Amino acid sequence: MLGWMTERVLPNKWPLAPHVHYLEASIIREILKFSSQPGVISFAGGLPSPQLFPIDLLKKVAGDVLEQYGAASVQYSLSRGIIPLRELLAERATAAGTPTTPDNLLVTSGSQQGIELLARAFIDPGDYVLTENPTYLGALQAFNYYQARYVTVEMDEKGMLVDQMEDRIKQYNPKLIYTVSNFQNPTGISLSEDRRIRLCELAARYNIPVVDDNPYGEIQFAGKQLPTVKSFGADEVITLKTFSKTLTPGLRIGWMNGPKWIINQFEKVKQCADLHTSTFGQYLAYEFVKQGLLEPHVEKIKADYRAKRDRMLKKMEETFPEGITWTTPDGGMFLWVKLPEEVSAKELFPKAVEQKVAYVPGQPFYPHGEGQNTLRLNFSNATLEEIDEGIARLGKLFAETIG
Ligand SMILES: Cc1ncc(COP(=O)(O)O)c(C=O)c1O
Repeated sequence: MLGWMTERVLPNKWPLAPHVHYLEASIIREILKFSSQPGVISFAGGLPSPQLFPIDLLKKVAGDVLEQYGAASVQYSLSRGIIPLRELLAERATAAGTPTTPDNLLVTSGSQQGIELLARAFIDPGDYVLTENPTYLGALQAFNYYQARYVTVEMDEKGMLVDQMEDRIKQYNPKLIYTVSNFQNPTGISLSEDRRIRLCELAARYNIPVVDDNPYGEIQFAGKQLPTVKSFGADEVITLKTFSKTLTPGLRIGWMNGPKWIINQFEKVKQCADLHTSTFGQYLAYEFVKQGLLEPHVEKIKADYRAKRDRMLKKMEETFPEGITWTTPDGGMFLWVKLPEEVSAKELFPKAVEQKVAYVPGQPFYPHGEGQNTLRLNFSNATLEEIDEGIARLGKLFAETIG
């Protein structure tokens, strides 16, 4: 009886607003259902390594916060974010080459909220967003909700082909340019310095805001550190940052760095969304950084992920058959695999799960649905032994499929 009621009555009980139907369940969530089956080695999720979460330090810092700030640490607070955290973040951004004051900053509930606020404030149904091809799925979800359309720019090993951009800008007049400039999710590729410069020139010439979503910049374990996109275009770029990859994602503390006038607007948009980001979480992040605990922690993350990336690359080299290519990221958490054109990563996925290994098929990362022969592998969450075994299983499956 209950089953019948749930099926027949509940879905139509109340008429939802039409835009809700633009929301699709994230394929990653769907895939996680399979990949969390017992015995499956998963390279599918995008999770930081839980073994590295600094639980003991967080326990101590949480005590310090309650001791030092008492009721203020659990009271309502400013929509822009608590002042000491914004001061500290501004100092750090300035020291890293992006002159920033606390007025340039809005603390958000993760960088995903930054994307959502941007979509909410900029996108009317049918507006174009210019993205890399492929791009971050969570951004597509947020933009889709506001019925965005997409104009895409292909990538090579130096990131988006910025030379393709100008014609597309002229033709489609996008409202936003969205890039993940460092160790991109999903490909692991970074935008080169000369392309960052050219991107900002185009943004200034055509007066289009660039959203630089940069959660992975600190997790760099090889290569030269690149100047931030914002350092080439302070007035053109809105940067999104987060503690999700450097501290813990469950804290939900991110921030937006943009020109003051737009941050003033976003303060109001944020107020509608959630009044403010968790006060306690902000104090916790603030104290963690202020006590000098973040840098040594990030060093540990880098060493761990570097070893895992190296192991994954080595094992891929040993076991993947000819005809498959992949990226070699200098940081972040993902690498990107291309199977031969005619092989569908999505069709192969159930066979991979049968062999007890999981990845994310690449197609959903393409706004227009290309890339059926691509897939994303996460290297931060599995252990070294799991990487050995999981990649060996994949290599065997690919060898059998490609023949
Ligand atoms: C490119 C990109 N942007 C944003 C996010 C969301 O991060 P947060 O936890 O800060 O909301 C992620 C998380 O995987 C990401 O890869």
